[in-house]
Amino acid sequence: MSDKATLQYAGNSYEFPVTKGSENELAIDIKTLRSASGMVTIDPGYKNTGSCESAITFLDGEKGILRYRGYSIEDLAEKADFLEVAYLLIFGELPNKEQLEKFHHDIKEEADVDEEMKKILEAFPKAAHPMGVLSSMTSALVAFNPVSVDVSSEQAMYHSIVRILAKFPVLVAWTQRKKKGLPLNYGDDTLGYVENFHKMMFKRPNKEYVKDQIAIDAIDKLLILHADHEQNCSTSTVRIVGSSHAGLFASLSAGISALWGPLHGGANQAVLEMLQAIEADGGDTKKYMAKAKDKNDPFRLMGFGHRVYKNFDPRARIIKKAADEVLGNLGIEDPILDIAKGLEKEALEDEYFVQRKLYPNVDFYSGIIYRALGIPTEMFTVMFALGRLPGWIAQWREMRLRGEPIGRPRQIYIGENHRPFVEVSKR
Ligand code: ACO
Repeated sequence: MSDKATLQYAGNSYEFPVTKGSENELAIDIKTLRSASGMVTIDPGYKNTGSCESAITFLDGEKGILRYRGYSIEDLAEKADFLEVAYLLIFGELPNKEQLEKFHHDIKEEADVDEEMKKILEAFPKAAHPMGVLSSMTSALVAFNPVSVDVSSEQAMYHSIVRILAKFPVLVAWTQRKKKGLPLNYGDDTLGYVENFHKMMFKRPNKEYVKDQIAIDAIDKLLILHADHEQNCSTSTVRIVGSSHAGLFASLSAGISALWGPLHGGANQAVLEMLQAIEADGGDTKKYMAKAKDKNDPFRLMGFGHRVYKNFDPRARIIKKAADEVLGNLGIEDPILDIAKGLEKEALEDEYFVQRKLYPNVDFYSGIIYRALGIPTEMFTVMFALGRLPGWIAQWREMRLRGEPIGRPRQIYIGENHRPFVEVSKR
């Protein structure tokens, strides 16, 4: 097979190298396209555009494969914990015992947040959406940690990474506590990363914290499943913001805003609200299936469909099983789980969904678990952000270490041609 692709236009021929990834994905390298031909490519939504080469996450949407650094998501969700996965994503290898202990120790050393940050949080109205609060608080962290990271120093980079991994769960917990009117607390450094987070989220001022292993294990698994997903909307945002050499925290804050949208991470909240609305409307799933298929109706079946997965989302399979287990272990019977299963069954047998290869995605069942754990609906996307944090960090670090150029796409201008200015009195 030729390792060159040829483009012919207006009697000219241009050759471009074809590169191959380690899983045999092919790409036409068009770095010289514009200088050679004067043309650019146009690809709204970047459906055919590889924005970078990356060694972090591999996914095959046709086969339903997802791997972090070569390890299958099924193995990691079953056998690893979230902190190990974070280390793996960021530094490339699973940590040995000493590395993991040091990593956790270093995170615990940084797990405080400047008390002044509380004043910022207090200024938000209680009704503010937690994603807006989290994005702002992450941005505000920059002001309290103004030293820009010297990316040529592995030590400085490591320190910055550890700092955000330590402080971010505190911000997430504070966001929930503010919403619930609970005092803002700090962690307990005798606990594991996720257990500590669980305690910060749920500790009541007048009650002893009781460890809830079912909840801790469920959160750990959900965080792992959300930890990275290659060049999605929020990750691309983090990379492109970071490509201007904006700092890590500022880039993450932008990623949080990108994740908020209902077509991306915000889908988990939207799914639960949709399931609740169907339940309140008598549980008639067929009515909502018809709405989803009606092109004159803006309604979409939230939690269905994915830009890349055109077979099934492997994370959705794991989460569906986990939802059954967690609810079973907690002794909860949630009618919403039945509605979700009913919708999935109908969609998988429906020609509209089959033809368009629409399957449940990661967020179709995650909200049902969060709800069972007592996490408010508006916090679901915040939980996603906590899970995605190591992925964003890993991608930001990779982008900076590879010395990638500033992200700056081209466009095709379709506006007015040059025209004379008209004075306001004559318009
Ligand atoms: N319900 C009904 N129809 C749908 C749905 C859905 N959830 N998703 C896609 N379709 C239809 C579209 O109307 C379109 O139909 P057409 O070909 O007749 O015009 C076709 O399927 C293709 O859809 P696109 O929007 O072109 O697919 P795209 O890859 O751009 O979008 C997306 C993917 C945004 C995820 C989409 O499927 C969607 O909106 N899903 C619901 C929101 C959601 O669950 N988002 C979470 C994604 S996972 C994540 O980000 C963590």
